[in-house]
Amino acid sequence: MQLVTEENITDLAAERWGTAGEPRLAELMTALVRHLHAFAREVRLTEPEWMAAVQWLTRTGQISDEKREEFILASDVLGLSMLVVQMNHRLDPAATPATVLGPFHIEGSPEFGFGGDMSDGVPGTPLLLHGTVRDLAGHPVAGAVLDVWQADTEGAYESQVPDVDEARLRAKYTTREDGSYCLRTIAPKGYTIPMDGPVGEVVSRTAISHFRPAHVHFLINVPGYEPLITHLFEEGAEYLDSDVVFGTKQELVVPFEQREPGATPDGGSIDRPWLEARYDFVLQPQS
Ligand code: BEZ
Ligand code: FE
Repeated sequence: MQLVTEENITDLAAERWGTAGEPRLAELMTALVRHLHAFAREVRLTEPEWMAAVQWLTRTGQISDEKREEFILASDVLGLSMLVVQMNHRLDPAATPATVLGPFHIEGSPEFGFGGDMSDGVPGTPLLLHGTVRDLAGHPVAGAVLDVWQADTEGAYESQVPDVDEARLRAKYTTREDGSYCLRTIAPKGYTIPMDGPVGEVVSRTAISHFRPAHVHFLINVPGYEPLITHLFEEGAEYLDSDVVFGTKQELVVPFEQREPGATPDGGSIDRPWLEARYDFVLQPQS
């Protein structure tokens, strides 16, 4: 019979999980056991703390559904999501950096033409965002689809607004022959992550700011290039230095410049004050 002691339990458990048939699973499980045990030893985990953690995990699962991913939120606020993004997207420094996808991307957004307005009646200051998609050599990438989504000025994404029956603040734009794109929307505002669940419960017991700075999300998936999931942030926005999910990067911060009513760069016009932002996305060829 196996004699289990406080000293040998880690080796015994790691050895047992090392028997997994797939080598990668064996590697993952063995390392997980070793790190979990090291954590419990380091903090001298008590039984009530262990039980509180188990119950927190249970609540995290229970509050999750097809619209809410509380485990992903937990990974985001722990900095794990951005660590995984950065390790897996070590792009050329000249390429546009990747960030977290976040929980609010919805598949199947409608396709809009150059300059199309994805805000469609949602109140806010008009924002025209335009530029090009290029490769590392500076060549335009024509036909690149930019899948774009954002929150409204209250910080609510489509999936958080009840009874929405058509796409809200999300659309797809395709670059022209010269790689140019132009989208019209409303200026986003900073917003709080959902604080009414187990993640919020723990965050609110710390001095952590639960806000994200104002941003627009982009997903650009072009055959032959590394898929790019990223955000653009408004220069000068609140919370740029304290983004609760660690998603901000200097390269992704762009000025939103004030414009008077009148002509827009896509040949249209806006009859009230609006904001203009320019950004050139740089894609990295697939290795
Ligand atoms: C977002 O930007 O949509 C987001 C990302 C991570 C957690 C919560 C929200
Ligand atoms: Fe967001």
